[in-house]
Amino acid sequence: MTAREIVNFLTEHAGRKTVSFHMPGHKGSAIYRRYGFGEFLDNIMDCDITEIPGADNLFQTEGILKAAQDGYASLYGAKKSYLLINGTSGGVIAAITAAVPKGKKLIMARNCHKSIYNALILGGIEPVYAYPEMVEEYGIAGEITAGEIERLLTENPDAEAVILPSPNYYGICSDIRKIAGTVHRHGKVLIVDQAHGAHLKFFSECGYSDMPESAEEQGADIVVNSIHKTLASFTQSAVLNLMSDRVDNYTLEDRLQMIQSTSPSYLLMASLDINAALLAEHKTELMKEWHDALTDFYREALNIRGLSVIGNPFDSRVRVNLDITKINLDMSALGLSAAELEEKLMARGIYAELTTGSILMCMTGIGNTAEHLGRLADALKEISGECLAGAPESGKISAASALNRVFEVRLELRPIPAERERIPLAQGAGRVCASSIIPYPPGIPFVCPGEVLTPEVIEYIKDLRCAGEKVIGVNDKGEITVGKNN
Ligand SMILES: Cc1ncc(COP(=O)(O)O)c(C=O)c1O
Repeated sequence: MTAREIVNFLTEHAGRKTVSFHMPGHKGSAIYRRYGFGEFLDNIMDCDITEIPGADNLFQTEGILKAAQDGYASLYGAKKSYLLINGTSGGVIAAITAAVPKGKKLIMARNCHKSIYNALILGGIEPVYAYPEMVEEYGIAGEITAGEIERLLTENPDAEAVILPSPNYYGICSDIRKIAGTVHRHGKVLIVDQAHGAHLKFFSECGYSDMPESAEEQGADIVVNSIHKTLASFTQSAVLNLMSDRVDNYTLEDRLQMIQSTSPSYLLMASLDINAALLAEHKTELMKEWHDALTDFYREALNIRGLSVIGNPFDSRVRVNLDITKINLDMSALGLSAAELEEKLMARGIYAELTTGSILMCMTGIGNTAEHLGRLADALKEISGECLAGAPESGKISAASALNRVFEVRLELRPIPAERERIPLAQGAGRVCASSIIPYPPGIPFVCPGEVLTPEVIEYIKDLRCAGEKVIGVNDKGEITVGKNN
């Protein structure tokens, strides 16, 4: 072992010039160089500074960082925007702990990212779960309905706020306008985890009515955007938009200081600044190129035998409120699992974001080009041809994975155990989980503290580990953490 393994890995990967359908959204240096930010890239080490005179301070912005934040507020129509250097993860923790006092309740989607579960622990907040509807055709988690939120708010008048992800990991969006109306009628706060939808506002502004609207346009109080996931800033950089007066901005700023590093990276913040400049100056061109490339891909996909793409806008069979920048591929009709499809694409230099069951999710971003999407379509045609030669086509779309079944089954919920112990996973059935079990990606807890483990859940976790998937919460000895006497 040498100390150079990370850098060797990265430089080798960069040299291979692969096509990226995973985070981050910039997809490499080309977009910066195209629009005149090559000099920043060439001087990157010398731009890595701290708070020298003139460089402002993230936690009391008055100069260049204030200008960047004001720029974002104007782009998103926010009362105030905050640059985040610890991702949406940091932003949602700050937002939740600002909106919900210790000991109070938060209504949250059960398919929230683990950072929201972390906020519960840090803030001493009690969760009330809202379950997503299932999209039956694919067996995946769909939207959270306003009806479900209305029911939970009525049953829990002591809940202070509601949080949900929209889009979710597959790109499915909830009706935020309707949910915001419900939440505000009850006098509560709506926080939207828009980690996957930072781009929606700009498609909307450019008039693409086939894309869902952003949460900012639909009346949410706080919206947190992972700019790095789909737009053009560096990994870890994000923006929190405060849209109303329902949450006190001083409390929010206080929480942001607690959660984030006191040495914020100027490289991350500069990349947010560059992203804002790209959107302010070239939005029309960038959104058109991205949308055209997607449209061409979806049209071509209809002609690839054995390939099904969730929510293909040219396929009238299934209607979901989908952000089409996420391309969910399913070739199970040809006998391919998502992992097998991923391998075949990787062999052709194409990297995807997520595999669950039969669905392989390709996450496009602002830096993807028509050439990238053309390469994906060509590769899928080739794979289809190879498989058709060997296997009969059944035409069946199979369910995504057991990961989604937890939202159907709804595990029994008991108080979070105070005393805990480690036991082998195989002996976990019937025990109360004390530490989340989280397949990564997508980072949505499969079992949360307080939930009772079932034999099916144990089997699924075992299968994931056998398939070599990363499962946080199961240690290298195959042990999990459960309540001591329950
Ligand atoms: C739904 C959702 N919310 C929040 C996050 C965390 O975002 P970040 O990586 O910007 O911290 C993720 C990360 O994948 C996510 O999928």
